[in-house]
Amino acid sequence: MSESTIIVERSERVGIIKLNRPRAYNALSGTLINELLDALRSFESDSSIGAIILTGNEKGFCAGADIKEQSELSFIDAYNQDYLKNLNDGFFAIHKPIIGVINGIALGGGCELAMMCDILYAAESATFGQPEITLGTIPGAGGTQRLIRAIGKSKAMHMILTGEMISAKEAEAAGLVAKVLPTEQVFSVALTTASKIASFSAPVVAMAKEAVNEAEELGLKNGLHFESRLYHATFGLEDHAEGFQAFLARPKRVAQWTHK
Ligand code: CAA
Repeated sequence: MSESTIIVERSERVGIIKLNRPRAYNALSGTLINELLDALRSFESDSSIGAIILTGNEKGFCAGADIKEQSELSFIDAYNQDYLKNLNDGFFAIHKPIIGVINGIALGGGCELAMMCDILYAAESATFGQPEITLGTIPGAGGTQRLIRAIGKSKAMHMILTGEMISAKEAEAAGLVAKVLPTEQVFSVALTTASKIASFSAPVVAMAKEAVNEAEELGLKNGLHFESRLYHATFGLEDHAEGFQAFLARPKRVAQWTHK
């Protein structure tokens, strides 16, 4: 039997996925992508999970598309398969927040995979890059679209047109990652954050994620309208009544979420 390319764990209400193809720096083979998407879908449908962590292994986060597999694809193969579109589609279907813990290299599709996550924590040793240009191709899993939104045109162009990497500190300064932490602490700090998010009302967390993501799709007026609709929808949740009653109780009490 072939070895799994990911390791799936859980810590109370947090689902953890570790990429694990050490011999290829966790490159995105078809098998790894399928196993990753299956694990995400499984956590998505599991009501005992409230947030997800995606990270790499001792080799780093991910070295991008599997270069050997990509080298065997002709234009028409890639076009007919919609190569790598399943990765973006799979992430779009997840309502639960995904924290990416970038513990080393995040190159090409690895940087793009990181940007599919909702919050990024980087180890001090992490590096980010879109080196596709050095291989005679361009980013193909969202790099040209998400990087400009994350760090602006000039920095995005610089990374994509030169193939040069940026450090974790530069990524933090540019707004690509939320926090940079000592390598030995990054996972445990991310787990604390994921546990905190998972302790809130699951439908409210999902609506907050959806509303923020819509900001990238909609103009301000439509975005504000969308936000209003979801905000008002939370008023119908049992968790909304509970959260407000818990705050107003004297003495105040901790809300008991039912995720309804
Ligand atoms: N795909 C497949 N195998 C990969 C790989 C990848 N993306 N990256 C590394 N490997 C494999 C190497 O082929 C090598 O395998 P063998 O031992 O069988 O020869 C093994 O991992 C170790 O690699 P190196 O010997 O190169 O190790 P290193 O420590 O010197 O360098 C590295 C590590 C910086 C990650 C370097 O391997 C590298 O630059 N990798 C390619 C990164 C890259 O260009 N990514 C973009 C891919 S294209 C893409 O992602 C398109 C897209 O937008 C989706």
